[in-house]
Amino acid sequence: MKGLILMLAVVLAVACDAPVKKSSTPVVEGSEIVLVTPPAKDGLTVNEALSLRASSREYSAEPLSLEELSGVMWAAAGVNRPDGKLTAPSALALYPVKVYAFLAEGAYLYDSAAHKLVRVAEGDLRALTARQPFAEKAALNLAYIADTKVYEGRNTSAEHVKFLCGQDAAGYAENVNIYAAGHGLKAITRGSARDADLLAALGLDPERYVFVLAQTVGK
Ligand SMILES: Cc1cc2nc3c(=O)[nH]c(=O)nc-3n(C[C@H](O)[C@H](O)[C@H](O)COP(=O)(O)O)c2cc1C
Repeated sequence: MKGLILMLAVVLAVACDAPVKKSSTPVVEGSEIVLVTPPAKDGLTVNEALSLRASSREYSAEPLSLEELSGVMWAAAGVNRPDGKLTAPSALALYPVKVYAFLAEGAYLYDSAAHKLVRVAEGDLRALTARQPFAEKAALNLAYIADTKVYEGRNTSAEHVKFLCGQDAAGYAENVNIYAAGHGLKAITRGSARDADLLAALGLDPERYVFVLAQTVGK
């Protein structure tokens, strides 16, 4: 009987086009943050999101829900096909760019295949991802960092490697901008960070790893 009532409620909600209450699970920081799978149908249409897309430079400290964080990471570099390729394209399908998420209590590397965040540094390191104060307390800052070793043996100049990695990162970041616009979030792509300190805090060798882009996402 209870099941029948629930089913009728769902059918009625859909028939009346009533807003379905969304889950809003708090993010619990730790050594790993296991993300949830974004629903196939969610948010505004692509055209609506494109109409709303704009850079924001004012953020509250309100955190993202687990559903929002999961959607943002999946938009940036989530697996969207059985062959393991991602939501964003990559030159030669090499995927040298890794996405680091900076939250209030730590920095995390996004594991696309497992759709989870793995903590790589503890503490609030958000200020390292920016040279603009608005980013420091925003819910989420992303740093796009390229592993140039991926291009080793391909006879590509260091300058061109950096150019291609920047193009890859711009695709990731624009996916996030569109996702944010379509889900009531604010976002901005940013070209600057305290890059030397950022790489040091993440324990990454600056001879090999290059900061290419940053992004703030929040409310
Ligand atoms: C590659 C790139 C780097 C950017 N870097 C910054 C930045 O460091 N700081 C900033 O405030 N805005 C930055 N922006 C945002 C631009 O200033 C913004 O896109 C531009 O003013 C157009 O405004 P709109 O995005 O609202 O359409 C960057 C945008 C891109 C695409």
